[in-house]
This record gives sequence, structure tokens and C-alpha cells, in this order.
Amino acid sequence: MKIKTEEITKSDILTDVLNGLSKSPKMLPSKLFYDEKGSILFDEICELDEYYPTRTEMQIMQNNIKEMGELLGEGTMLIELGSGSSQKIKLLLDHIPGLAGYVPVDISSEHLISSSKVLKDKYPHINIFPLAADYTKYFELPLIDKHYDHRAVYFPGSTIGNFTKEEAKEFINRIADIAGENGGLIIGVDLKKDKHTLEAAYNDSKGVTAAFNLNMLNHINEELNSDFDVNKFKHFAFFNEEINRIEMHLVSEDEQVVNIDQSNFSFNKNEHIITEYSYKYTLEDFENIANDRFDVKRVWVDDYKLFSIQYLKVKD
Ligand code: TRP
Repeated sequence: MKIKTEEITKSDILTDVLNGLSKSPKMLPSKLFYDEKGSILFDEICELDEYYPTRTEMQIMQNNIKEMGELLGEGTMLIELGSGSSQKIKLLLDHIPGLAGYVPVDISSEHLISSSKVLKDKYPHINIFPLAADYTKYFELPLIDKHYDHRAVYFPGSTIGNFTKEEAKEFINRIADIAGENGGLIIGVDLKKDKHTLEAAYNDSKGVTAAFNLNMLNHINEELNSDFDVNKFKHFAFFNEEINRIEMHLVSEDEQVVNIDQSNFSFNKNEHIITEYSYKYTLEDFENIANDRFDVKRVWVDDYKLFSIQYLKVKD
């Protein structure tokens, strides 16, 4: 199995961090949550009682997997953006009739190698074409030396909610290019709901979410040799009802200066850094994001309408 690599480099990270901290308000790119420790903490978040998205999405998958596999159909080349070693992909691989192959795309080549190995052992008959790339940027599919009928993109986890509306539209249009003629998309979309449920999901009582958010500063220190004092920032998350988004912030508890490479950044007491947005959609809002290039063909939700999985097809 050959791995195609378009990995991000240290200088990409430096550029992103310097650009983000030069903005007002300051921002940091959310992909920097996921170093080794961050990935472990995120797995812990997914197990929390308060964090409903992961288990709800899994339930929806389990309850409807047969129909999903049939809709994707014979001869599908399945492309997963942000691939995990997760149970979700195994469900799909098990239920697409006549699956032609699987293209996992992940930013971390290490993660990609280990998860592709696990899948290859379990599914020796499936052709796997791994691609290490930052799928939020432009990327090209690896060479696929296997005949297939059409492509389908799988984008679970409601990561689409982490883009702004404009970015989401642009990104979905790019997915349409990747999926191509007759292509499909299965996407997880988190739904708008009461403020209380939402805010509990991003402010858990055990403090795992706080540790996850703060760990980004450790990660940046390690990558760039910077000197963020993690003890002088605190986690803050709230639901912005006007814009329908959870906002994740880190708040400076003191006046302080942080050195990164040749630059330094001053923080006022109570100054915020935005680390991530998580937009919550109504079904109608999401259709408006997708309908330049896609038709929404099928929407599955849980009994409480917390979360949706949607099947879209590229317009002719
Ligand atoms: N992408 C996840 C989400 O929007 C990430 C996430 C969960 C997260 N909890 C968090 C990000 C807390 C920052 C802080 O649900």
C-alpha cells in the first residue's frame, strides 16, 4: 500500500499562527488541537455524557446503515475526509454493496499508516489508497489504479460546522469537484437546539473540554518553541444565538507577552483568542449551504433531532 503525502510543515504552522494572532480578535487554527495529547483528549470528550454529537451520530449510522450503503451503491470509490480508525467507517465499508475502494485522507501520515494497517488486516479484499493531506486546503486525489463507477465522499463528525458559512459553501463546492459526476456525499451535520444542551456539550463538568482547548497552546509551544504560559489562560465556550454557533475561546487571565519565532504578541487582561467555531444548522440552513452543487436526497436524524446525517448527490 503506497501512501501519498502532502503533509503540512512547520513553516505552514508558523505562518498560520502568526497570521491568526495578528488578527483582531486574535484567532488560532483549530487543526492545531490535534497533537497526540489533543487526540486523546478529544476521544475522551466523545465519551462524555454531555457531549451528545459522537454517540448520536453513531446511533443514526447504526440504525440506517443498510439504506446508506444501498444509496451509495455498487462500484463506489469511497473517500473519507479526516479519516479515523473509527467504528463509523467500518459500518460503511461493511454495507456498501460492491465497494470499489477506499481513500482515507488525513492530515497525519502516522495516524493514516496505523489506521490503514488496521483496516487492511480486517478487510484484506478492499483496495485502500491513503492520502496524507490537509483536506481544508486544495489537494489532489492519489492515483487510483482500480476501476470504479462513481466517487462518494464521507465527511462525518459535523466538522462542516467548524467552517464559517462562506467557507462551508466553498468547501462543499470543492467536495462536489472531488466527488465528480454522479458523485455522492454523506455528511454529518449538527443541529440547532436549546442553549443549555449546547453549552453543556462544550463545558463538561470534568473539565476535559477545558484541558483540550488549552492543550492547543502546549502543542504550539512544542511545534514552534514559543512560550505560552498555559496556566495564564482559561477555557471559555458559549452559544452565540444570533449567529447559531458555539464559540470556543481562550482568555488571557493577565496582561502578558508571548514570544513566537521572531515575533511577540501582547495580551491584555481578559483578552480572548478564538480557537474554534461550531455552527449549528437547521435542515433548511444546511440545504442553502449545499444547494449550489448538491441535491439533498435523504436526511436521517435521531429521535430528539439533535444531529443529522445527510445523503447528497452532485447535481447533473
Ligand atoms: N469539532 C468539534 C466540535 O465542534 C470539536 C470540539 C468539541 C471542541 N469540543 C470542543 C473544540 C471544545 C474546542 C473546544 O464539536
